[in-house]
Amino acid sequence: MKFFIDTADLDEIRTAASWGILDGVTTNPTLYSRTGGSLADFEDHMVKICKIVGEHVPVSAESCATTTEDMIADGRRLSALAPNIVVKLPICEASLPATHVLASEGIRVNMTLVFSIPQALLAARAGARYISPFVGRFDDIAEDGLEQLENVVNAVANYDYGYWDAEGGPEIITASVRTPNHVAQAALMGADIATIPFAALKKCLHHPLTNEGLASFAKDWEKVTNAK
Ligand code: G3P
Repeated sequence: MKFFIDTADLDEIRTAASWGILDGVTTNPTLYSRTGGSLADFEDHMVKICKIVGEHVPVSAESCATTTEDMIADGRRLSALAPNIVVKLPICEASLPATHVLASEGIRVNMTLVFSIPQALLAARAGARYISPFVGRFDDIAEDGLEQLENVVNAVANYDYGYWDAEGGPEIITASVRTPNHVAQAALMGADIATIPFAALKKCLHHPLTNEGLASFAKDWEKVTNAK
């Protein structure tokens, strides 16, 4: 499974990159707004992220355009910022033709806000390089987000789409991840990628039995160092 980080925070991205586990970055308008950045700084901020992670690590930058024409214009402009920019578009009537045009120009689209199999299949068919089904937001409304994710993973895997075969796309990004169990179950069902907020990524690293083991090893090593 590939690990992406779901944040626009530069320090979090630097830390995850230093761990040697970072395969990609996803951002969205909410995550960018949390940095305190302005519209004028948005593109510079995306370039900073691209520079931190290096040109082979995809960075999703979301367009907030609402028409196909504006999405295409945003997509062309954002993708020209750096070779690793992926244009994030929400699944809707405007974004399907925009995705089709951008994909035919070799521009990678991450289709976001995906909550159903038909939405995922339409995104793949239109040429999305990445498809982002949301897990946690289903859980928020007392539905089973992991079951929904598994349905999307299986349905998309049934077909060939042609646009991104050479890169192994379209890939499924498990999005709206909240817990280590979301990551574990996504891996068991074969989802290609999990994009994980930094706090959840840290939870993935830790385990209470690891902490207990570390404490007991440290205590016993003290006995060794104190032995005459
Ligand atoms: O970036 C899309 C997704 O990961 C957002 O997650 O926690 O806002 O549902 P969340």
